[in-house]
Amino acid sequence: MTDLIRIFDTTLRDGEQCPGASLNTQEKLEIARHLEKMRVDVIEAGFPISSPGDFEGVETIAKNIKGPIIAALCRAVEQDIKCAWDAIKLAQKPRIHTFIATSPIHMKLKLEKTPQEVLEQAVSAVRLAKSYCQDVEFSAEDASRSNPEFLYQIFTKTIEAGATVINIPDTVGYSQPEEFASLIKGIKANVPNINKVTMSVHCHNDLGLAVANSLESLKYGVRQIECTINGIGERAGNASLEEIVMALYTRKDFYQKYTNIDTGYIYPTSKLVSRLTGFVVQPNKAIVGKNAFAHEAGIHQAGVLKDASTYEIMRPQTIGLESNQLVLGKHSGRNAFKSRLAQLGYDLDKEKLDKSFEQFKVLADKKKEIYSEDLLALMSEVLVEEIADIYELSYFHISTGNNILPTATVKLIREGNVFEDAACGDGPVDAVFNAIDRITGVKVKLSDYNIRALTRGKDAQGEAVVEITDNGCSFIGKSASTDTLEASTKAYLKAINKMLLRNSYKDK
Ligand code: KIV
Ligand code: ZN
Repeated sequence: MTDLIRIFDTTLRDGEQCPGASLNTQEKLEIARHLEKMRVDVIEAGFPISSPGDFEGVETIAKNIKGPIIAALCRAVEQDIKCAWDAIKLAQKPRIHTFIATSPIHMKLKLEKTPQEVLEQAVSAVRLAKSYCQDVEFSAEDASRSNPEFLYQIFTKTIEAGATVINIPDTVGYSQPEEFASLIKGIKANVPNINKVTMSVHCHNDLGLAVANSLESLKYGVRQIECTINGIGERAGNASLEEIVMALYTRKDFYQKYTNIDTGYIYPTSKLVSRLTGFVVQPNKAIVGKNAFAHEAGIHQAGVLKDASTYEIMRPQTIGLESNQLVLGKHSGRNAFKSRLAQLGYDLDKEKLDKSFEQFKVLADKKKEIYSEDLLALMSEVLVEEIADIYELSYFHISTGNNILPTATVKLIREGNVFEDAACGDGPVDAVFNAIDRITGVKVKLSDYNIRALTRGKDAQGEAVVEITDNGCSFIGKSASTDTLEASTKAYLKAINKMLLRNSYKDK
């Protein structure tokens, strides 16, 4: 049996599925490009039947990403399977991933079906998927709360029907490592045709055991692990990719297994996902948290200064984090800028390089030292700007103080026409948002507004994340700047532009 553990990344499907994480197609493609560079084996690009936006995201990734297998999720129903295939058929290596729940609780209460009906539906689904695509993954949703005998039966039959991968999810994060491993052991021993397929696991983190359960399953022949960047996903999330990969890398002596992952892309990709989803990584998060390689205690610092291995089991450079920060500034040239971007996973064509270098110079004028985090923020700004904005910000002016009513004047441009208006508010941000509302004529609910420092120092860039709600749909806008009012204004306008763009599609 091979010692290669395949990494199946589901950041763009299970990760994107969690509340507030919605990404547009451009953002999904950007993440997929990073995953491709990181050399994940499979990218689950989305759930095409769930929305036109999801379909578009999966199709765009299928057409543009060449290295990894591109998987599309679908329920075990004809319409879903056809839709999944339509979205991925142009991929170099397509995979249909179909699933149905197998636990008594799901079959009875959710599906209202008997086990026999579920079995028949699963087999027909795999047969149909196989008629389109050579590579078919079958998942038994809520496997960890299913009757093992039923799992043996459904896996035997779906493999006979043509499945190439069978996936065993701990959908509700209920299993304990020993218990989960023994379920896998039972499947390996009791499914006669199991050696024809790859066994996969997909663990959720409700009890904080997703990574432990995934790693434990390797003992009994699992060779694909499903996981997400930063562990994002439904509820408490999925097994975190960086933790799985770095456990296998750092404790190769113990596991005796390897992955195809280029670990140097872990940190930039984590940053990108955090910025685009707006989900902040907790500081003490293993591998990618901002404290993961920071030493505070005097004894620790003394040890690390003598030899880093005293308190560091991994080198920060292994995950793409430069320990001796290569700092760029206003005197840095295009080559240094370009090579630092390449290290962070961005190979830009000339036009994009020129545009981002121009913005880098503007930033360098405002900020003395430019760190990797600044560049990652800048790149998100530059690349996200590619989506045609309906309204562009021309300028804003705010007067505020402790004894005057904050007032904002805003000038926006739409299709070459200039619109200007002013408004007051409870504070400067409220005033500027009100002025934008007056110009655009929209009536939205501001459901969330956050501002945080992205980088270090007094001249740090601040990132504003704004969420607005319109008719039950939420739209997130993000922007970074050394001026937090500017970041807030741009973030709000981005959210409004996204909403207007969606409404214009809806009206067509
Ligand atoms: O958690 C789960 O069971 C899933 C399946 C669709 C694989 O996400
Ligand atoms: Zn899941």
